[in-house]
Amino acid sequence: MIRLSFAPMEGVTGPVFRRVFKEVFGGVDTFYTPFLSANQNHSFKKREKREYLPYDPMLVPQVMAADPLDFVWAAKLLKDAGYSEVNLNLGCPMATVVSRKRGAGLLKDTEVLRRFLDAVFSQEGLPDISVKTRTGFETSEQAAQLGKLYAAFPFCEVVIHPRAREEFYIGRADIEAFKLMRAELDCPVCYNGDIRTTGDIERLKTDPGGVDHFMIGRGLLADPALALKIKGVCETEDRRRVYDFLNRLWDAYMGELSGERDVLFKMKELWYYLEWHYPEEAELIGRIRKSRSAAEYRSLTMQVLNR
Ligand SMILES: Cc1cc2nc3c(=O)[nH]c(=O)nc-3n(C[C@H](O)[C@H](O)[C@H](O)COP(=O)(O)O)c2cc1C
Repeated sequence: MIRLSFAPMEGVTGPVFRRVFKEVFGGVDTFYTPFLSANQNHSFKKREKREYLPYDPMLVPQVMAADPLDFVWAAKLLKDAGYSEVNLNLGCPMATVVSRKRGAGLLKDTEVLRRFLDAVFSQEGLPDISVKTRTGFETSEQAAQLGKLYAAFPFCEVVIHPRAREEFYIGRADIEAFKLMRAELDCPVCYNGDIRTTGDIERLKTDPGGVDHFMIGRGLLADPALALKIKGVCETEDRRRVYDFLNRLWDAYMGELSGERDVLFKMKELWYYLEWHYPEEAELIGRIRKSRSAAEYRSLTMQVLNR
């Protein structure tokens, strides 16, 4: 039996999105929060608290930190909030994150990373710690070396996104780098990267093979029924279900954000990924992404999906 997780996506897969996605689609076993920033203030912002409160048994909170003791503070706080697992972000490629030696910035120097992990795992009273990592900073030639380093610590799971930081999300996920890192690890491993179709999962079951946990991000934004299709629960295309999903999401964001403009912006971002699934509708979707009012957005969305 395979396990599917929705990848954390900052600005996209927040609590409102996760709730509406579960109501209309589902098929995903675990969700991860977009990264929560732990810094020396040792307090999370209101927006961040809404990510993990109230306790959700399907959720793994993800934390990003430059200082190991800030990570430890956050992990313990999340344990007190009920979470048995906390995920460490070692993958975020954004320049503002990397320059402060957080996210993928910690992959640049393995000695710095080793000291970070030593300081974390020398603490008592932690929840289980998993990590979501890329396979290198400049190139994935670092994959095996990083795998060896992770193997020296008691991670409950390593989620591998086989791209180097310098690749951001460009090009293809590198299965060979995934294999090199996995070969060094004894703990459970999750594969993440470029899963867009049920066929992709079928291929991954044989190459690299032996993986039973897959994490999907953009593929689920493009086709929100993908997890259901992978699990064999839903086989046919159903545009009306996507239409219903987007309508409910619109209403839910209206209750959360500060007005129609912000909601429109958020919805247009989703259409960037939805276009991957409906390439034949590129012209109409291009107009959705340029729409300036809720009325225009609604009418165009209806033309693409309500049939
Ligand atoms: C807009 C956006 C936001 C993201 N935010 C996060 C994040 O908060 N934490 C994280 O670990 N990865 C983040 N990622 C990376 C995804 O979780 C995932 O690793 C990446 O998209 C590759 O998987 P996919 O090909 O299935 O999308 C983000 C990616 C995108 C495109």
